[in-house]
Amino acid sequence: MFSRAAFNSFKHAARGASAKIAPHSVLMGATVATAVGSGAGLLYLNRNAAHANMEAEGLHPANHPFPQKKLLGTFDHASIRRGFLVFKEVCAACHSMDLIYWRNLVDVAYSEEEARAMAAEYQYVDGPDDTGAMFERPGKLTDPMPRPYPNEEAARAANAGALPPDLSLITKARHGGVDYIYALLTGYSDPPPGVEVREGLNYNPYFPGGAMAMAQNIFDGVVEFEDGTPNTASQITKDVVTFLNWAAEPELDERKKIGVKAVLLFSSLTLIALWIKRNRWQTLKTRKIVFNPPKNWANNKSSK
Ligand code: HEC
Repeated sequence: MFSRAAFNSFKHAARGASAKIAPHSVLMGATVATAVGSGAGLLYLNRNAAHANMEAEGLHPANHPFPQKKLLGTFDHASIRRGFLVFKEVCAACHSMDLIYWRNLVDVAYSEEEARAMAAEYQYVDGPDDTGAMFERPGKLTDPMPRPYPNEEAARAANAGALPPDLSLITKARHGGVDYIYALLTGYSDPPPGVEVREGLNYNPYFPGGAMAMAQNIFDGVVEFEDGTPNTASQITKDVVTFLNWAAEPELDERKKIGVKAVLLFSSLTLIALWIKRNRWQTLKTRKIVFNPPKNWANNKSSK
């Protein structure tokens, strides 16, 4: 309806100043233009908000070209596979990942046999058995990722009082998402002159406040990739961030695939609906009501 109104007002405007322009369509056109313009302006301001306090809020991360960030982009599954290895060998020492089960990896980055074999490397407490005692058994596909600490207190005690957050949804839980995590993991540096970092904390300009309990733990060569991908710190970080993004949005690939289908389907249905509507309304819209006065109409009127 708006587009038709805007179109009509443009049509009128194009006819030139000599033609009579219906005031309501000019008004409608201007309203639509203002709404679209201010919407775009607000979006721009929102995306480019200026931060007055970089230190308290953390440095703004750079924008990296992760394929899954593009409109129709999907995950690089080889990267998810390498990223899981990084998580398992580095991050899992301190971070839990409660929402990911071994079975979730099947057909995403690992075959069923591979996932089964990896799960079996860990011992899980199960039970009780016939005597009421708990026992340990090797992991199965239906087990979650093993937790590094039995409870929050143990986790804090081992990390100078700080709690390593669960990483299942971390890319969704932080402003800046994948770019922030990437910047954080690669952003450690010496504190600038004049900045003091408390004993046990590490300087990282991307972390709000600048002082973080997690030390740098990704360096060149900390993991070996089986597919021969160079194991530089930036590559390792990119892969683990891709894995974390998949963990938080495992439905991303499917969602985009369905999205394309839905847009195609609903836009063609809309076109058909518009066409049918024109068809149904054409008798009404093209109707002309003509009043044919009787021959002596004028005389009758004046005689009254
Ligand atoms: C030695 C333990 C340890 C290891 C290993 C470790 N972390 Fe952490 N991590 C922590 C602690 C402790 C915190 C909490 C920091 C704080 O609150 O100051 C943390 C916090 C984080 C955060 C949250 C930052 C925020 O904005 O709140 C992310 C993301 C993170 N770690 C990712 C990782 C990834 C990815 C790895 C593996 C490459 C990893 N960590 C390995 C201990 C660890």
